[in-house]
Amino acid sequence: MFWKRAGTNSATEPSEISGAISANGHAEPSEAADPIATANGSSPSRIDAILTDVYDRVRPISDGALADYIPELAKVSPESFGIAIATTQGKVHKIGDADTEFTIQSTSKALTYCMALELCGRQEVLGRVGVEPSGDPFNAIEFSPLTRRPYNPMVNGGAIAVSGLLRDTLGADEAFERLLERFSQAAGRKLRLNEDVYRSESQTGHRNRAIAHLLLSAGALQEPVEPALDLYFRQCSIMVTATDLAFMAATIANLGVNPLTGEHVFDIDAVRDTQSVMFSCGMYDYSGGWTYEVGIPAKSGVGGGILGVVNRQIGIGTYSPRLDRTGNSTRGIESFKMLSNVLGLHAFDLTNTGSAFVNSFFAEPKADSP
Ligand code: DON
Repeated sequence: MFWKRAGTNSATEPSEISGAISANGHAEPSEAADPIATANGSSPSRIDAILTDVYDRVRPISDGALADYIPELAKVSPESFGIAIATTQGKVHKIGDADTEFTIQSTSKALTYCMALELCGRQEVLGRVGVEPSGDPFNAIEFSPLTRRPYNPMVNGGAIAVSGLLRDTLGADEAFERLLERFSQAAGRKLRLNEDVYRSESQTGHRNRAIAHLLLSAGALQEPVEPALDLYFRQCSIMVTATDLAFMAATIANLGVNPLTGEHVFDIDAVRDTQSVMFSCGMYDYSGGWTYEVGIPAKSGVGGGILGVVNRQIGIGTYSPRLDRTGNSTRGIESFKMLSNVLGLHAFDLTNTGSAFVNSFFAEPKADSP
């Protein structure tokens, strides 16, 4: 089996990082120009020192509030806070409550979208849900007036349409089994459903039922509605940790292959499409601000988790359950902002240097040999 994520590195002693950060706020690149590559697990690496610094700076932030519109969600400790980074070489660096479990919630939407693309193909998925940012709250009861489809798969309307597609293709129970297995493969350990949260979601999910019926009327969901909703409620109620989110993100970053287990989890084309939508729509009505300030594809959930993908390099998972008005973790956002700044992770940052592949098209033609 593929559950073998044991014996990975954990964060080491707190240490000073003065000198590691340059005047522009970035960490100075190591010889290998890869700040993560210096980690060897034997002594506090530069990345562990950076993680410790970010953690210490962000921990005092107590803005925001626990989600309580689903009663079970309000039962977590508001103080929990953890950060994990997994590399595409399979190393993990973590700090704080990085192994505390919480429900995955909307972070699941990125993974189910990836599955639907793979199972049903791009055209069929695009027929049910678009790829445009909505600029509206995640639970808005609205569709694009142009297409009469939900704006994107990262808001509730789009995610329920995706659950409907998975249900139509696999049947509700089989779809959940496959989904749980796929999420587990991406995390590198066997995940489980939180029955109490699932019941709470289902009992209080009236707004999602309204959205599902709107989907039905627009032809973006097939009858019967309830099993598709049930699949959505169950996918949101899977327990994960920040470390799990980091490995899920690293699996996406590693072109769909879990870097620790070597398991091929997601199709490469689906991974590309999913990251694109995460980049423009993954943080609800803060998506534009996030892409501007943090600049990496990401997905959040009201359980307090955020998953961020730095393509071909690292996956980042954060957990802190106090949320801002958009439903995103306040400490999670601050942690990502600092990590992006210090490590130069923004897609358009100066560390994003040229590609040999692109350069090869611009090379001067070689003179014909005599
Ligand atoms: O649809 C719901 O209400 C939740 N179970 C999932 C929402 C979620 O995580 C959206 N978040 N930011």
